[in-house]
Amino acid sequence: MAANCFSSGSNMFQEPRGENLSSAIGYTQKMTVPAAVTAQSLYDRFSVPPNLQEHMLRVAAVAEIIAGRCAGVTVDFSSLMSACLLHDLGNIVKFEIDKYPHYLGAEVVRRDYWEGVQRDMIERYGTDDHAVTAVMLEEAGIPVVVRRLIDSKSFPHAIEIADGTDWTRKIFLYSDLRVAPLGIVSLDERLDEALARLEKYRGRADLADAARRIESQLASVSSPLLTDADSGVIDSRIPELRKFPLPGG
Ligand SMILES: [Fe+2]
Repeated sequence: MAANCFSSGSNMFQEPRGENLSSAIGYTQKMTVPAAVTAQSLYDRFSVPPNLQEHMLRVAAVAEIIAGRCAGVTVDFSSLMSACLLHDLGNIVKFEIDKYPHYLGAEVVRRDYWEGVQRDMIERYGTDDHAVTAVMLEEAGIPVVVRRLIDSKSFPHAIEIADGTDWTRKIFLYSDLRVAPLGIVSLDERLDEALARLEKYRGRADLADAARRIESQLASVSSPLLTDADSGVIDSRIPELRKFPLPGG
């Protein structure tokens, strides 16, 4: 990885805490410290469906590849990874299970169960997915810097992100745009899918143009941006990324 790219991030995969420390430090009395909060522990805590987990894990894997290849720019790697891993934490409240049951993947056989989870989450947190995710992140003690990054990532911010110089935000938004509900796609495929599926983005050519500008900007500092060979790497990173230790969680 290009060392000059990151403002932080060498602590990517620390060993989970929670081990018995008594032998290491010579205490006769057993001492334990709390286990680290990982991406998976929050997916479990907030009943995140497996397909949504996989989306966030793939976004993180894409961001990891892009950030790892970039040079000459500053990226807050720890915040970037945390934001990718958690950015859609509360999205079950907006799932249209009737319309897109296949998005549940293998869990479609437990559709009734996930519809029940959705009802519970809506009752507890409401129906605004952005607000739901924000509350969950706050409940989980995720630092403000990560919460702000997530809050300012959504597609309507594409123009501002393209115009700006924050490379962490550019990588974050772009990585999310390369991961469709069922896997990695080209930017154009993703834009076509999102613009067709989501009424609020229909006719927003300005946002699509901004996304393409971000892709060009990233291609100029991170080469190659993503290759076909990266698809296999992305899925192979998923088990490790589930264990990613989250800051302040
Ligand atoms: Fe996403």
